[in-house]
Amino acid sequence: MSEPIVLGIESTCDETAAAVVQGRNLLGNVVASSMDEHARYGGVIPEIASRAHAEAFMPVVNQALADAGLELGDVDAIAVSAGPGLAGCLAVGVSGAKALAWAANKPLYGINHVIGHIAVTQLQFGPFPEDTLALIVSGGHTSLLHVQDVARHVDVVGTTLDDAAGECFDKVARLLGFPYPGGPHIDRHAQLGDPHAIRVPQGLTQGNAGRQHPYDFSFSGVKTAVARWVEQQQAQGRPVPVDDVCASLADSVASVLARKAMAGCEQFGSKTLIVGGGFSANSQLRAKLLEAGAEHGVDVRIPQLKLCTDNGAMVAMLGVNLVEAGVAPSSPNFPIDSAMPMDRIVMD
Ligand code: KG4
Ligand code: ZN
Repeated sequence: MSEPIVLGIESTCDETAAAVVQGRNLLGNVVASSMDEHARYGGVIPEIASRAHAEAFMPVVNQALADAGLELGDVDAIAVSAGPGLAGCLAVGVSGAKALAWAANKPLYGINHVIGHIAVTQLQFGPFPEDTLALIVSGGHTSLLHVQDVARHVDVVGTTLDDAAGECFDKVARLLGFPYPGGPHIDRHAQLGDPHAIRVPQGLTQGNAGRQHPYDFSFSGVKTAVARWVEQQQAQGRPVPVDDVCASLADSVASVLARKAMAGCEQFGSKTLIVGGGFSANSQLRAKLLEAGAEHGVDVRIPQLKLCTDNGAMVAMLGVNLVEAGVAPSSPNFPIDSAMPMDRIVMD
């Protein structure tokens, strides 16, 4: 059989995205964002995002197909994010994908978009090795996964006990007065600051807690420590050294993620670390992971920047994996799952 062609559709949050992947080749990739409409509220407003998805859905899908030089009838299957994400947003994408699948008589897969975040690395680095470790760092998730087979079996090795890394950055960014989403602003300022200017705790790395939770994360203590320090400066009438605050926060978070990911690779005998999710765009994390990988002999696979945040390519890529593995498509009436668990790859 020639390499399967899959149309991937993504609408979990503020991006309406569609892409076409054939095998490991990206043929078309279109992303429309409603972020500008949310920025003034300091966060994504689900109702506004859902309406934007309804408007952008068909134009984005048609453009992705046109860029690929294909028509809907040419694809072997359609994949759509069924979760995790905002319920109203997921409902628009899933309903639209069901309509397309029905009209064109194509198999439809309702996939886990977080698993898509790691699957997308195959476009750059080729298929996953068997039994590999993966680090997911998105706005809502920070987890270490053991990926036996990306189409069939994924286990959670560790996860955050409170905030995700992206969430922690976004909250500190708000405190510093950056617009939403604040992650990229912290990244930019961190590049200008001293990473050792401020002592920032590294959650679950020391003592008993560290031993009991070797692969789990906690970022709320980091967030609180930075917030207290900033408030103290302000109370004493001192200026806040924004670049140093950002650099110290970024260094702490990136160090913990890199250290625990490498410990996980050692424990599971994995010579590869697959990385994915919006926070994998973070330059401090990318540098720390590549450095730690070189030190430990681990091949670290991080997506190119434009494929880190939500996109259709990751959904299409995971769809190709499912078709290649012969996994049955989702049933015609599969629901959305806004809290879709990490170890669930596709809806029944
Ligand atoms: O995966 P994603 O696009 O959406 C979710 O599924 O959650 O991740 C969005 C998150 C936000 O928290 C955003 O602040 C963060 O990714 N982010 C970054 C950077 N680019 C995006 N955080 C730090 N540095 C960046 N360069
Ligand atoms: Zn995401």
